[in-house]
Amino acid sequence: GHDFSSYKKSTVERRIARRMTVNELDSRQSYLALLEESQLEAHALYQEMLIGVTAFFRDPEAFEVLRTELVPKLFAAADPEEPVRIWHACCATGEEVYSLAILVREYLDEQGLSNKLLIFATDLDEVAVSRARAGCYPEAGCTGLGEGRLARFFTRVEGGYQVAKSLREMIVFARHNLIKDPPFSRLDLLVCRNFLIYITPDLQRRLIALFHRVVRPGGFLFLGSSETLGSHADLFLPVDKKWKIFSRHCSGARSESGLIFAAPAPLAGSRRPAEEGGCQAQTPGESVEKLLMERYSPPCVIVNDRYEVVHVSTRSSRFLEVPLGEPTRDLLRMVREGLRPALRTAIHKALTEQTQVVFRGQRLKDESGQLTVDVLVEPLGDAHAPSRLAMVIFESVSPAALQESMPPAAGHPQLPGDERSKDLLIRQLEDQLQIHHEQLRITVEQLEASSMGLFSSNEELMSINEEFQSTNEELQSTNEELETSKEELQSLNEELLTVNAELCGKVEELKR
Ligand SMILES: C[S@@+](CC[C@H](N)C(=O)[O-])C[C@H]1O[C@@H](n2cnc3c(N)ncnc32)[C@H](O)[C@@H]1O
Repeated sequence: GHDFSSYKKSTVERRIARRMTVNELDSRQSYLALLEESQLEAHALYQEMLIGVTAFFRDPEAFEVLRTELVPKLFAAADPEEPVRIWHACCATGEEVYSLAILVREYLDEQGLSNKLLIFATDLDEVAVSRARAGCYPEAGCTGLGEGRLARFFTRVEGGYQVAKSLREMIVFARHNLIKDPPFSRLDLLVCRNFLIYITPDLQRRLIALFHRVVRPGGFLFLGSSETLGSHADLFLPVDKKWKIFSRHCSGARSESGLIFAAPAPLAGSRRPAEEGGCQAQTPGESVEKLLMERYSPPCVIVNDRYEVVHVSTRSSRFLEVPLGEPTRDLLRMVREGLRPALRTAIHKALTEQTQVVFRGQRLKDESGQLTVDVLVEPLGDAHAPSRLAMVIFESVSPAALQESMPPAAGHPQLPGDERSKDLLIRQLEDQLQIHHEQLRITVEQLEASSMGLFSSNEELMSINEEFQSTNEELQSTNEELETSKEELQSLNEELLTVNAELCGKVEELKR
């Protein structure tokens, strides 16, 4: 069976209600009893839940952006020796992925390119995947294609058209559960349209994090027109805001999706050897490297320019603590008290100047007492490709090591014993002074900016922002709700048209 608990309750309820109407049942108990005794009904309900509405060049304007902007970009930077990797998730009966394949084929032919290409198209619905693989569509479904494309990419079959073999062979179709099965990785383009609108915001968030993990830096993501990145807006840059085309941030920051996948088994139903999933077996070298990283590398966190933590390594808890009250990602609220001024200054300086900043000998207190630590902040980009992310490394130092590591102050010769401790103290005080000096400079800069009218009251902005955000979230969920209802109506409409056509046929027969 399939677990629908992460699908939106309203959609699930509407689909159940529809099956109850079809079966002329008005109580949930009696429908449950029917489900328990009838495999056929259980399967019908399962199919009812997977609303497979789709079409060739659905949202033509979006496909125009794909044709004019995205497809050329996909190949502009591609290494001709390496295949361009595309994953079309939730492809339903395949019309959308064939539309994309048509655009790609047209572009490659126009440009005289012979790049290698791997297009994977997957869906949970096995029946839909088989239909996609066969590529046969009724005439009515092919109207949006236009004469030219029909002639070039399709052959006439009884009752409709079949996608030409050359186009079908460009795509590997497979059944795949986006929530459970290992994903494809190192993607140049990931298309997942009109699936997120059916699932809970929490699962949407985890899938966006997963998409970020599997799309290569600079690769693209194409969502449905009413789908958004939600709280993960910082993981991708908009390429076309209206049609929800994004490019993945070039930074190497990883986002944890929290999704747990089944072991990477070959994808059922694929015709070529299955591609590797996201959870590849490690070589002994990789395992050792991972172990060394976990055991012996210093604790570190990755933060963005808003001081928000995007990744935490092992053994960082000594330097961080969960603050009371609302959960937060704000590093300055999480970090132990003694480190706050140094961190604020170091991150600001590292990101604005894109340079490494080190503050040695910072003192803080944890449960086991006083602790001295070196704080190193390193931006993840460089001067040519500045990054909004920085890595913060905490290195505990023993007082002895601290003395060793501190070079004598300029003009002071090496000093023994007590004198050396005094020298050390002076150096630490000098460092603290530098931190406070830097902080003062930042504050003065900010004050100047605000007095020039560049900033209005920060608190006001934040509260307006919060209001916008909550209104935005409400609008987004209403929008998604409308979109799912629209899709459901569309699928109902398609069914009615079929029933109508059947009835017309019967009337004709009766007349004769
Ligand atoms: C509305 S269709 C979208 C089709 C196409 N992407 C489009 O926008 O025209 C949603 C598809 O998601 C598929 N689906 C639902 N749950 C899924 C899951 N857990 N994993 C993969 N596909 C799923 C359904 O079978 C259905 O074909």
